[in-house]
Amino acid sequence: MIFTDGQLTQETNRLYDKLKHTHWSREDAALIAPMTLEIATLKKEQNAIILAHSYQTPDIMYGVADFLGDSYMLSKIASEHPAEKIIFCSVHFMGETAKILSPEKVVLVPAVAGCSLAESITVEDVRKLRKQHPDAGVVCYVNTSAAVKAESDVCCTSANVVNVIDAMPQDEVIFIPDKLMGQNVQKLTKKKLILWHGTCIVHEMFTVDTIKEIRMQHPGVKILAHTECNSSVVDAVDMAGSTSDMLRYIASSDADEIMLVTECGITDRVKTEFENKHIVGACSLCPYMKKIMLRDILVALKNPRPDQIIEIPEDIRLKAKQSLDRMLDIVPKNK
Ligand code: 13P
Ligand code: SF4
Repeated sequence: MIFTDGQLTQETNRLYDKLKHTHWSREDAALIAPMTLEIATLKKEQNAIILAHSYQTPDIMYGVADFLGDSYMLSKIASEHPAEKIIFCSVHFMGETAKILSPEKVVLVPAVAGCSLAESITVEDVRKLRKQHPDAGVVCYVNTSAAVKAESDVCCTSANVVNVIDAMPQDEVIFIPDKLMGQNVQKLTKKKLILWHGTCIVHEMFTVDTIKEIRMQHPGVKILAHTECNSSVVDAVDMAGSTSDMLRYIASSDADEIMLVTECGITDRVKTEFENKHIVGACSLCPYMKKIMLRDILVALKNPRPDQIIEIPEDIRLKAKQSLDRMLDIVPKNK
């Protein structure tokens, strides 16, 4: 597509205004401007929207996305929005969650991107666990494949995991697949949890020693962590929750210094959206989330590769939807 000098300058200015907070230069913004303009044009022509998880790169979040958010919130937006096509910049299981809720829409994830949690467990594993613990209910974290959701009784998110587990009729609950989140939840529920060995390769790397060091260097700092971190980290921070919980906490906190014990995309969001906050400490990159490039989004819009298109067999989709619906029955406001 050909754009005029005026269009390109205007787009460069728009991009730079956002991206400068995350150390992008004006030259970088000028380089991607033709691509973001082309994506915007195709999006309109095709009645498509672009959703970006908060762990995506700033050029995607602020250059082309219509909505930013956490995994479940974006899937809800996908199902409620009148668009015919959803470009979900995230990882495969998140695209599947959107497709479970919106079977009539075309859902595309621009790169083949897994997740160490979702890949840690298969349908056969869930069936074996059920056989070993016939009296237990099964709760799956949303970071699971559609097929594993279909084998579970109820799904949950990091924001509502305790409510969902507490609402199970059984005294014993198999919680899959996040061992560390399970250990954190075990401290908050009377249910006996049976855990799987999955971990998030990003969040399992954080240690309590770093947190102690940061507190010594920055006495007024507020430290926020994702509940996928280990329990010694979670116990040492000021707030542990989902990516959205962290952003809500920052919006209502008057602390100047913030440490984010999570993926770097959230740090980029805070730098861009809360200019008066100062980020301390180091974040970590999710290699799966960071696989998506602007050019992949262009391909998804122009001529999608089969691996970009999310398809789920209808029998699995219906059963997986039941798990999500039961979660909403327990926590109607999607807490
Ligand atoms: P949220 O559901 O909080 O967005 O987290 C998703 C995720 O993959 C965290 O690592
Ligand atoms: Fe999966 Fe961890 Fe990446 Fe989230 S940050 S997508 S849980 S690997």
